[in-house]
Amino acid sequence: MKLYDQYADEIAALIRAGQLAPGERLPSVRETRARRGVSASTVFQAYRRLEREGLIHARPQSGFYVSAPMTTTANELAVTAPGREANEVAVSDLVFEVLRAARSSGIAPLGSAFPGPDLFPLAQLAKAMAKGLRRLDPCRIVENLSPGNPRLREQIALRYRIDGIRLQPDEIVVTSGALEGLNAALQAVTQPGDTVIIESPAFYAALQAIERLKLKALEIRTDPERGIDLDALADALSRQRIAACWLMPTFQNPLGSLMPEANKRALVALLARHEVPLIEDDVYAELYFGAQRPQPAKAYDEAGLVLHCSSFSKCLAPGYRVGWIAAGRQAQRIQRLILMTTMAASVPAQTALLHYLEEGGYDRHLRRLRTALMVRMNAATQAIEAAFPAGTRLTRPRGGYFLWLALPAGIDTMALHQSALHHGIGIAPGHIFSPDHRFSDCLRINCGHSTADVLPALRQLGALAHALQRNTA
Ligand SMILES: Cc1ncc(COP(=O)(O)O)c(C=O)c1O
Repeated sequence: MKLYDQYADEIAALIRAGQLAPGERLPSVRETRARRGVSASTVFQAYRRLEREGLIHARPQSGFYVSAPMTTTANELAVTAPGREANEVAVSDLVFEVLRAARSSGIAPLGSAFPGPDLFPLAQLAKAMAKGLRRLDPCRIVENLSPGNPRLREQIALRYRIDGIRLQPDEIVVTSGALEGLNAALQAVTQPGDTVIIESPAFYAALQAIERLKLKALEIRTDPERGIDLDALADALSRQRIAACWLMPTFQNPLGSLMPEANKRALVALLARHEVPLIEDDVYAELYFGAQRPQPAKAYDEAGLVLHCSSFSKCLAPGYRVGWIAAGRQAQRIQRLILMTTMAASVPAQTALLHYLEEGGYDRHLRRLRTALMVRMNAATQAIEAAFPAGTRLTRPRGGYFLWLALPAGIDTMALHQSALHHGIGIAPGHIFSPDHRFSDCLRINCGHSTADVLPALRQLGALAHALQRNTA
C-alpha cells in the first residue's frame, strides 16, 4: 500500500470513529511531515484523496477540515404504518422475477444484495483455501459436519468475545450462509398456521421463508432510524399468540435502521416475558460507520430465546456460503436439522475461512471495507439528491450499503424497475418488501459497488423517475 493511502486510511478511520469531528482542522502539512517523517507530497496526496471522497474539504489559506457527515436536503422518511392483522404471504413469484431480471449480466447492480467484489480479499481467501485443502486430513473431514469445524467455531466465538459478547463455541452451529440458519431457526420454532412478527418493510427472504412454511406474517411499525416500534410490538404480543419474531435490530434490510442499545435490551426483555423466540438476523453488523460494533440483541439474552444468525457473506467472502447460528435453547435442534438437510457447510469454504481468520488481517480488511462503504454511500446520497425528483425522501443509515428511497406520490417503482431494466439498471422495488406489496412508491438502492458503476446509473435512474412523474402528471 502507498504511504499516502495508509495515512488517508488512518484519517478516514478517525473520522468514522468520531475522533475527528466535523469542522475540526486536520494537522497542517508541515506538522504532519515533521511528526511522521514523510514528505509534504505524501501528506498532500492523502488529503487530496480524502477530499475527493468527500470526507474533508480545503479552506483557502487555512488548511483542511473534516466535512459534515452525510447531509441530506431531502425530507426524512416517516415511520411505517402497517395494518394490525396477520397476513398469509405470497411474494415468492414476484421476488424471483425481480431478482432474475436484476441478475442478468451487464445490468448495473443497484438492486443486488452484495457489495462490490472489488472490496473483498479474494486472492488471500483463495490462497487460504489452497493451503487449507493441502493440509486437510481426509480422515478428519467428518469434523466439519454440523455443528461445523471446531476451530472455525472457536474463531467465530473469539470475535464475539473481543466485542464483549459472551458466546460459547458449543452454542455455534456453522451453516451454509446466514439464510440456512434463519430458515432452520424459523422451522424449529413454528408450526404451519402460526403468526410471525416482522418489520415493515421486511427483508424479502423472511417473507419467502414465512410463505414456504405456511405461516402468517404480522408487520409492525418500523422507524427508518431506530428500528421496530416497541409499543406497537408490545400491543401485538398482548393481542394474540405469536410464535416468533424475525428481526434485524442492526442495519435492517432494506431500511438500514439501527435500534438503540436500550431498545435492544428492552426488546429481549419484552419477548422473554411473553416467551417468544427472537430470530435475529445480524449479517450487516460488521459494516458500521461508527466507533464500534453495535451490540446484537443476543448480548442481552439470558433466557436462551434469541436465535442469532450471521455470516461472512457481506463482509468477507460472498459466495463461500459460510454462516452460523447461535441458537440458545434451540442449539441442538438446529444442529440436527442441518444434519438432516444439508449435513454441513462446504468443507473447502470452512477450511478457507478458518485459515484466513487464523492468519490475521481480517480486522484490517474490515476497517478498509467500512471506510469504502461509507464513502460510497456518501457519494450515492449526493447523486440521488441531485438527480431525483423534488420531494424524494431517503434514509441515512449508519452502516451497511443500502439506501431506501420514497419517491413523490404517483411514481410507481415497479414501473421504474421495468424502465430501468431497459436501460441496463437493476433496482429492488419496494413491492417485494411487504406481504401486500404496499411500498409501491419506495425502492432500495445498493450503493456498495464502485462509484464508477453506481453514480452514472443513479443519474440515469433519476432521469427515468422524472420521466415517470411527467407521464403520471
Ligand atoms: C438481511 C439479510 N439476511 C440474510 C441474508 C443472507 O445471507 P447469506 O448470504 O449469508 O445467506 C441476506 C443476503 O442478502 C440479507 O440481506
